[in-house]
Amino acid sequence: MTEPAFDHSEYLEHVNTITAQWARALGASGADAAVVPAGIAQMYFQDDQAPTFHPNPHFARFYPDDNCEHSILLVRPGDRPKLYFHRPASYWYQPPTLPDWAEVAFDVETHADDEQLMKALAAAVSGCSRIALVGPAESCDLNLSPDAVNPKALVSRLQFARAKKTAFEVARLREATEVGVRGHIAARDTFRAGGSEFDIHMAYLGASRQQESKLPYPNVIALNEHAGVLHYQHYDRARPDPARSFLIDAGGRSGGYHSDITRTYSANPGDEFDDLLGALDAKQRDTVAQVEPGVSFVDLQMRMHREVADLLVSFDILRCSVESAYERSVTDLFFPHGLGHLLGLQTHDVGGHFANEDGELAEPPERFPKLRFTRAVEPGYVFTVEPGIYFIPSLLKDLAASDAARDVNWPKLETLMPCGGIRIEDNVLVTSDGVENLTRPVFEALD
Ligand code: GLY
Ligand code: MN
Ligand code: MN
Repeated sequence: MTEPAFDHSEYLEHVNTITAQWARALGASGADAAVVPAGIAQMYFQDDQAPTFHPNPHFARFYPDDNCEHSILLVRPGDRPKLYFHRPASYWYQPPTLPDWAEVAFDVETHADDEQLMKALAAAVSGCSRIALVGPAESCDLNLSPDAVNPKALVSRLQFARAKKTAFEVARLREATEVGVRGHIAARDTFRAGGSEFDIHMAYLGASRQQESKLPYPNVIALNEHAGVLHYQHYDRARPDPARSFLIDAGGRSGGYHSDITRTYSANPGDEFDDLLGALDAKQRDTVAQVEPGVSFVDLQMRMHREVADLLVSFDILRCSVESAYERSVTDLFFPHGLGHLLGLQTHDVGGHFANEDGELAEPPERFPKLRFTRAVEPGYVFTVEPGIYFIPSLLKDLAASDAARDVNWPKLETLMPCGGIRIEDNVLVTSDGVENLTRPVFEALD
């Protein structure tokens, strides 16, 4: 296992930045120490096997490596964070080694034994007047009262702060993008060479050099109608005949940070589906270009629905005005998910609905309950922009039963239904005066 190589000064600056965030958040919540367990994988029911371990993201933001099960951080305002590093003397599994960057950022105490680790931690916090536990409570037995476990006043501040990335985090997101794009290029080429969903999935894993259990989220590898299942989860071993379309939603990870990228292709360049996906691609680029500090993501969502209405009318799928398709919510049946979400240590990163750091919510508009991101954007935020147009049988049934049914060119729609749908998804970074698309230049450079 090779360790991730980080620029130590950038990493230290990141840890200093987030340590200061924790100090402020602890102060506001009235606690004087935070205990942050990485977590312990939970076994399947009556089994001795567990799913692949995913660390507590509050821990992962300090410690950007997955090999940290049972380790615990102690964060106290004014002190360097202290890492209680768990290194069991196991011969069943390879014990983790302490990465060189960890000693740059933390005081470290290494324990082979879990109980000894907990005892040392309990002794260290015995003088604290108010301890908060931030993470999975079952992995840290300090006998705390329930209101000391993940207190909202603390956690909402930490989650709010995660939207704005440090330079270290942006560097990891760039790496995660490169990982994903390498896979995407191989996947596209395997589709063009006649591969099945399974072949494409394997090509993605190989080219992005990721094991399946470490993917940021399960690959969506969808041929034909499967592209109309938003998180389609199977990998058919046989290629359909004919293959018409291919949607791939797949990402990469680096230092725990995720990329989240979708592309759609036609098997028949120049056909109507290809034209439609090209037109949606152009609208997606236009929408990304609108991003700048202060823009409301809710406004972008509404703008994109108008753009989808425009495409449905201009491709003669709907025979009504663009405004009427938008106003009557007809677009909601073709584009049933939100335009995007925050991205970071989690694919659907936390805090997208926070109006402020106190955790008050900015709920999505009633019409768009699935929208995960309602904040005005600020420099340093990283999020996805992922419009779609899908031909989903159950939603088209709703359309057929609605007043708008008479405005639908059903024969045209039926020619597109076997293609399933289109989604185009890039990841963007808000800069001081605009936006940087993190995804597209990497495709251009690596292709
Ligand atoms: N891959 C999950 C999403 O795009 O939100
Ligand atoms: Mn996404
Ligand atoms: Mn995605």
